[in-house]
Amino acid sequence: MARITAPEILKKKVNGEKIAMVTAYDAAQARLVDAGGADMVLVGDSLGMVVQGQADTLGVTLRDMAYHGRCVAAGLTRAHLSVDLPFMSYQVSVAQAMRSAGRLVREGKAQSVKLEGGVRSAPAIRAIVDAGIPVVGHVGLTPQSVHAMGGFKVQGRESDAALRILADALAVQEAGAFCIVLEMVPAELAARITAELSIPTIGIGAGAGCDGQVLVYNDLLGMDTRFKPRFVKRYADLEGVVRDAVQAYVTEVKAGTFPGPEHSFAQDTTRLYGG
Ligand code: KIV
Repeated sequence: MARITAPEILKKKVNGEKIAMVTAYDAAQARLVDAGGADMVLVGDSLGMVVQGQADTLGVTLRDMAYHGRCVAAGLTRAHLSVDLPFMSYQVSVAQAMRSAGRLVREGKAQSVKLEGGVRSAPAIRAIVDAGIPVVGHVGLTPQSVHAMGGFKVQGRESDAALRILADALAVQEAGAFCIVLEMVPAELAARITAELSIPTIGIGAGAGCDGQVLVYNDLLGMDTRFKPRFVKRYADLEGVVRDAVQAYVTEVKAGTFPGPEHSFAQDTTRLYGG
């Protein structure tokens, strides 16, 4: 089956078709997300938090992203694969941004790359697009700037800040990105940006007025109930399912009831002892 391309994602906005994006970090997750019908799979640098167990995304390296990109690509047959450029892999210079994007395509099997920032990232976006690599933008809450933003907070509540985010989104579009993530901005602002842009907006904590939505795999499946931001909807309780399954296994191992005869192999005495 052919994989969904960047131009096909762009066309969904023209056709009024909503876009469903989910993150994934390995081939097993990718296979399930693909089978579930997601249009786009993002190998997010959120892997620093949900896979590596860190407090933020800042420690994730380009090598990590290429590795997880390759793993996810192996599980996909249909969905479009976008891979995040991690912290300090594109901010130093346009040349660095192009090299990093190229590595994610070559080694990480990305069909497109995502990077954070609006006006300030526009030259890097333009150069990567000119090199033939589709780009997904990301404005609003940009987690790689967590220290400058003073935490993971809603952005653009006041009108000055809202206008800056709108200008950022327009700069991303102008630079050639084919879609843009809007993270943790008021629903009214996201709806206005969506109306002004011709490229699709993919919201996370940005209300229903976007052209699509993205959720982190672990959040969507309820894999960690310690973490429940307002914008997350859990479609399953995998934390409970997995904990109960492991508990049942441990109980049976300790009681000697697993494995049963049906899980064991019989000795082939004829061949072993020569008849
Ligand atoms: O890193 C990530 O998973 C992301 C999404 C939440 C948009 O950037």
